[in-house]
Amino acid sequence: MDKLLMDVGSSKLMNSINANSPKADQCRWRSVANPAELNDIALSMILASAAAAIQKRGEFHLVLAGGDTPRAIYKKLRAVQTDWSAWHIYFGDERCVPPTDPRRNSLMAGEAWLDYVQIPADQLYTIPGELGADLAACEYAQTLNNVGIFDLTLLGLGDDGHTASLFPGHEWGTESDSPDTLAILDSPKPPPQRVSLSAARLSRSRQVIFLVSGESKRDAVAQWRAGENIPASAIASETGVDVLLESALLSPQK
Ligand code: 6PG
Repeated sequence: MDKLLMDVGSSKLMNSINANSPKADQCRWRSVANPAELNDIALSMILASAAAAIQKRGEFHLVLAGGDTPRAIYKKLRAVQTDWSAWHIYFGDERCVPPTDPRRNSLMAGEAWLDYVQIPADQLYTIPGELGADLAACEYAQTLNNVGIFDLTLLGLGDDGHTASLFPGHEWGTESDSPDTLAILDSPKPPPQRVSLSAARLSRSRQVIFLVSGESKRDAVAQWRAGENIPASAIASETGVDVLLESALLSPQK
């Protein structure tokens, strides 16, 4: 896969967006022209990650981002020809509302993609947010007990620098002995009750890709690139972190 990308960190064209880096905490800023290009490149990276995992281990363990940004990417996955029986789907976080509530990340992913492909139902690991944050976090931690390192974790970025449901001023679970899941009872982004994978568990992944689009993310991007301690900056992976973001977010506000 040879999508050319401007690596704004080193201002050189990258021949491969699969370039693995030995530094787990390295952050590679991948500038794209617009949301459509972000969606295309994200799709390419997801499929490259899936092909590598399935070829090496026969399975692909993917953590989905919530929010709105990934919806268009998930819709593109509907048409992909792949061995869906090898795919295992997890969620980075979930809102504690009923499964049919339009705020549910699992409903968004289902309506955009998962309802259209033949991933075995017992390989779709939704967070049971309807149980309430404490019980759902406990149940999902048990689910993750049997899961090793993820192959790919997709994440979004909130206006305040949050990712998944890890928010400034709240627990992020960054220690190696942090629990896999956190119950959030006072989320600043509604709804108040959520479950999130901890920063440590999100980072136990071979690859992490952030999907960042929208003018409202400008300040969070600037904080992140300035080295400020925001929840997104607490995420690492075996091969570092790729941040796909619109180039407009890198230039000074007009
Ligand atoms: C959630 C998400 C959250 C999201 C960011 C960005 O459940 O709200 O996990 O972390 O990814 O808030 O959301 P948008 O993609 O809608 O901007």
